[in-house]
Amino acid sequence: MKRVLCFLFAAVSIGALSAGLARAETGSRAAPVKSGPAIALGSAWYPEQWPEAVWEKDLALMEAAGMNMVRVGEFAWSSLEPEEGRFTLDWLERAIDAAAKHHLVVVLGTPTDAPPAWLTSKYPETLRVDETGRRMQHGSRRQFSYTSAKYRELCRTIVEQLAQRFGHDANVIGWQIGNEYTEDSFDAESIRLFHAWLKEKYGSIEQLNRQWVTAYWSQTYDTWEQIPMSTGRGNPGLMLDYKRFVTDQWRSFQKNQLDVIRRHADRRQFVTTNLGGLGWANRFNRREIAADLDLISWDNYVGSGHIEPYRNGATHDLVRGWRRQNFWVMEIQPGFVDWAGVSNSLDKGETRALVWSAIGHGADGIAFWQWRSALNGQEQYHGAIVGPDGKPLPLYGEVKQLSGDLAKVAQLLSGTKSESEVALLHDYDSRWAIDFNRFSNRYDQLAVLVDYYHALRDRTQSVDIVDPLSPLEGYKLVVAPSLNVVSEATARHLVRYVEQGGHLVLGPRSGMKNEFNALNVQRQPGPLVSALGARVEQFYALLDDAPVSGAWGDGKATVWAEYFSELEPGVLVPLRYGKCNGWLDGQPAAVTRKLGKGTITYLGAALDPALMARIAEQWVRDAGVPDHTLPAPAGVEVCRRVGADRELYVLINHASKSVRVELPEEMQDVLQGGPTRAVELDGRGVGVISRPTRK
Ligand code: GAL
Repeated sequence: MKRVLCFLFAAVSIGALSAGLARAETGSRAAPVKSGPAIALGSAWYPEQWPEAVWEKDLALMEAAGMNMVRVGEFAWSSLEPEEGRFTLDWLERAIDAAAKHHLVVVLGTPTDAPPAWLTSKYPETLRVDETGRRMQHGSRRQFSYTSAKYRELCRTIVEQLAQRFGHDANVIGWQIGNEYTEDSFDAESIRLFHAWLKEKYGSIEQLNRQWVTAYWSQTYDTWEQIPMSTGRGNPGLMLDYKRFVTDQWRSFQKNQLDVIRRHADRRQFVTTNLGGLGWANRFNRREIAADLDLISWDNYVGSGHIEPYRNGATHDLVRGWRRQNFWVMEIQPGFVDWAGVSNSLDKGETRALVWSAIGHGADGIAFWQWRSALNGQEQYHGAIVGPDGKPLPLYGEVKQLSGDLAKVAQLLSGTKSESEVALLHDYDSRWAIDFNRFSNRYDQLAVLVDYYHALRDRTQSVDIVDPLSPLEGYKLVVAPSLNVVSEATARHLVRYVEQGGHLVLGPRSGMKNEFNALNVQRQPGPLVSALGARVEQFYALLDDAPVSGAWGDGKATVWAEYFSELEPGVLVPLRYGKCNGWLDGQPAAVTRKLGKGTITYLGAALDPALMARIAEQWVRDAGVPDHTLPAPAGVEVCRRVGADRELYVLINHASKSVRVELPEEMQDVLQGGPTRAVELDGRGVGVISRPTRK
């Protein structure tokens, strides 16, 4: 298989690949190292659905649209192994060869999200069982049980065939394992594994009973087998452990295939999976899944409505934060989907804005889902780039424009990344613990997170979202709304950060629970009470707003209010409640103190947006966060990617009216060419400007 690779965009190693390449030195075969395009732009393509005669036309149109990659194979099991042990991979090789002729590199999906009919009829024990006990049947996808040993064995077999055949293929730049891991299973094998998992974790049933406090409602267990596996309103300790179990199962499901690929494939080929669920999904801990991969990718859909720039941008930042590295968007919405309440189209230009926003936040690869409308199957209405007749749909022109713009920027973007001195903490344990019992259906922790993000991003134009246990020393300011579960280890990590000069702000509901989802006996924020020098005396779900005022300004507490007591000397109260429910009247709504070289602060209320904005400004100033912002009118999202020599600002006008962005100094206009003091942006328009990097 001799192919000369030639990419439209310069072929340089993407940041995410470099870690993989570094490890490639040992043990890899002597294959020529070829890496992907600086910025990959492509689409999901399903050659197995079409006669080979039409492939050429599809690929020629992709090339003419300026694309440089395709993703293939992720649902093609029945075409790759039509009966057990009979493998038909030649067509895939021809498809990969045909793509290469059109200068399209390939990401190869393993087909394990859609088992073939022979498999499910021969091995019905591999079928997933839902929580009501109903076993799935064939005819859709994701009908397999992720724990099934037999299913995993069959996955290994097909993946090994693929890896042996394409693991050295010069045109295959990477692998995608499965597709959007989603459904857990309640079959007997999964339940057995859950019990074994608990036994491994707790060692003795007495220990489990103690940590889950099972004396409550006589839940005390005598044997592991008595423990239920359900997701209803169960014991909070059990529920948290179940999520961790699900995470471990998906991780080992993935590792089963990862090991096979790594055994046979060149290390220059990255391994990823496309994480789904609109970014915020929390069926399992996606950061842990990402930990084993070379490259993180996720699927960016808008669904009904239009881009919500803060929420969408925060999602990219969350994904980037799992490994603090650039990522790919392996599926992006081509105008519209087919599954939303109203599957409206994004406006003309909005898909382009969606792509640029991903790139601004750190994406180095973008693939549309999908290239061509499938003639039949469950997703016939879904947006695509060419229609069932193989002719361009209206979006095709936008893709072409996009690729033209990207070609101008790709070289400059290569090796650049987002930088931030402000981090928000996102923690799956806390997400789960609050969701199991929100206490108030008005407390939407994602909305709270995005409120904080909004206020901080307006001040800094760059916010990382990271796990509480990740290295924090690079951040001047770390903000943790809803950090509900705080273990002793997390508390030590956070206190060390503060003592060494960091500024930590805890938000509502912090530190209520320990790692077993039991209440912390110190009250909130649990093991951080002594560092804070105060504790939450009581929390209240608010029906009506409560007034707050103090050194931070005046405004309203909404949705949630906690007040503090037992203040040690040196603890300041920058915000107090005014007259409201009697309990809160005059009480501290926030406390702050110096600790070591830094400060620790706790804001006990969700606040109205105006006050939140003012306070965020103060936090940023007090923490000494350097200003890298580029002033821009409201509605224009500004993203900065920094390289060794140049920094790039991506400006995205999310509004439908045109605007002018005056620059503070002369900068290079990368898309229009030449130096400029201002950028004109059409409605939904995008600009990219650059200047030498300032540190
Ligand atoms: C994704 C999935 C794709 C396709 C798409 C439609 O979640 O990975 O295979 O179904 O949704 O929007």
